[in-house]
Amino acid sequence: MAIGVNSLGFIAVAQVLALAGVVMVLVWCIHFMGGLAWEATDKSLIFNIHPVLMLIGLVIIGGEAIMTYKALPLKKELKKVIHMVLHAIALVLGIIGIYAAFKYHNESSIANLYSLHSWLGIGIITLYGIQWIYGFLIFLFPGGSSAVRSETVPWHIVLGLIIFSLAVGNAAIGLLEKLTFLESASLAKFGAEAYLVNFTAVVTVLYGVFVVFSVLSQPVVVREEEAAYTAL
Ligand code: HEM
Ligand code: HEM
Repeated sequence: MAIGVNSLGFIAVAQVLALAGVVMVLVWCIHFMGGLAWEATDKSLIFNIHPVLMLIGLVIIGGEAIMTYKALPLKKELKKVIHMVLHAIALVLGIIGIYAAFKYHNESSIANLYSLHSWLGIGIITLYGIQWIYGFLIFLFPGGSSAVRSETVPWHIVLGLIIFSLAVGNAAIGLLEKLTFLESASLAKFGAEAYLVNFTAVVTVLYGVFVVFSVLSQPVVVREEEAAYTAL
């Protein structure tokens, strides 16, 4: 299933949204929330690592990994390695980001895993890890038989899109949850920070939509060997 338009426009819009998302989450966590720290007496600085790594790592770098196949005019084998490495970076940053949320909770005597956001989050990072391990073993090294690869690649693509979309949705829930905590503790509902957080979530969701469009549309450059393959 594919949309009959070129993916270039979708990829270009996604890059603008990615850049906006990175800038917005950094401005929020550094300028408005006081910065990032791994060790601090003000424990909220430890928490701030969480949104930064989840958004830039799991969501944005994860999305860039997915767009590799459509965006880069390179050989399939090289794109596969880039796809794998970017997903590895996304996964590692996601794990460190979740660890930071636990560290913040533990050092502030706050219970762990009480929210829907945290339950979905554990599910998403687990599925992401399984998807990565499956991709590595079957598509890269040692590699499954060509029958297993061709039968499971549609599953890999659909499940990959579902996991990525869940990560995007959960980032939006996380932004909502944190903003709600801040507003209950006196943050102005129509103030600059509240708008920034809400628009960060809007930009994140739009980024997710454009990544999915890029997967469902036509490759920018169809290499000769791939064109021949498709025509069969
Ligand atoms: C896909 C991205 C994300 C995943 C997978 C994720 C996952 C998690 C997990 C597993 C926890 C539980 C930590 C614990 O129980 O100690 C957590 C906590 C939290 N996260 Fe996220 N997170 C994501 C993005 C975000 C973002 C962008 C924000 C925005 C601020 C955020 C805000 C929070 C908050 C406020 C908590 C503490 C309250 C709670 O446990 O729900 N999260 N997150
Ligand atoms: C070691 C890790 C991985 C390897 C080796 C790998 C390999 C592959 C391969 C061979 C394709 C097929 C490209 C094609 O024939 O068109 C693909 C596509 C895709 N993968 Fe992965 N993958 C890995 C991890 C992941 C992860 C963790 C996700 C998401 C959570 C993911 C999501 C996708 C998506 C959405 C596509 C479709 C891209 C498109 O058609 O434009 N992959 N991957």
